[in-house]
Amino acid sequence: GVTPKIAPSMLSSDFANLASEADRMLKCGADWLHMDIMIMFITLTWLPRMTQCQLTKSLLWHFVPNLTIGAPVIESLRKHTKAYLDCHLMVTNPLDYVEPLAKAGASGFTFHVEASKDNWQELVQRIKSKGMRPGVALKPGTAIEEVYPLVDAKIPVEMVLVMTVEPGFGGQKFMPETMDKVRLLRKKYPSLDIEVDGGLGPSTIDIAASSGANCIVAGSSVFGAPEPAQVISVLRKSVEK
Ligand code: DX5
Ligand code: ZN
Repeated sequence: GVTPKIAPSMLSSDFANLASEADRMLKCGADWLHMDIMIMFITLTWLPRMTQCQLTKSLLWHFVPNLTIGAPVIESLRKHTKAYLDCHLMVTNPLDYVEPLAKAGASGFTFHVEASKDNWQELVQRIKSKGMRPGVALKPGTAIEEVYPLVDAKIPVEMVLVMTVEPGFGGQKFMPETMDKVRLLRKKYPSLDIEVDGGLGPSTIDIAASSGANCIVAGSSVFGAPEPAQVISVLRKSVEK
């Protein structure tokens, strides 16, 4: 069977005190720390060299209008904690981050299926060879069938992250329509780790857990609570039900 993994999203933490925030979450009962890695995908030097088609594709597939943390921050945090660092890569070119993140001490490496159409096999193989746990994420508008080949592969991903908001920012509203995908996935793969991310908290956990999610990312609901330990325990109990 699957076990609950409660993963506070450090995107909602005080970045200036990341080590103590991580510590606080672990003391509150967190299993994993969820690290959101996003970047503006077009650099100004590339822009003039991109064709219209490349540009449109990039905008459609990969644009996340936010900047967060990268490998140097993971490396610094790793010096302060032994915790499982569940890294969620919202980047155009996940392959470029495998080596740096492995060196930095990442534990899980979850890339987006929308950003790895042509090279997911190589990506998964490299992630594993670097000692990290491969996962694949999909945006709310992406069909669940897109990840089946990655779970069925000879070297499979070990987790599927079903985004329950549009990736980019914490504090957005949970999208219940994404639960159909979680249900289909759970039916097909009874022992797969299924993660949900976005808008999860005490009022949305029951539908997510009963649909089959067992890895729960929660940012604002945990960090915004007077007692994060209590919220984490509510999330865990719902998955255990
Ligand atoms: C959104 C990130 C999430 C985010 C969740 O792009 O992937 O991890 O931090 O935050 P909440 O729980 O506040 O929706
Ligand atoms: Zn995330």
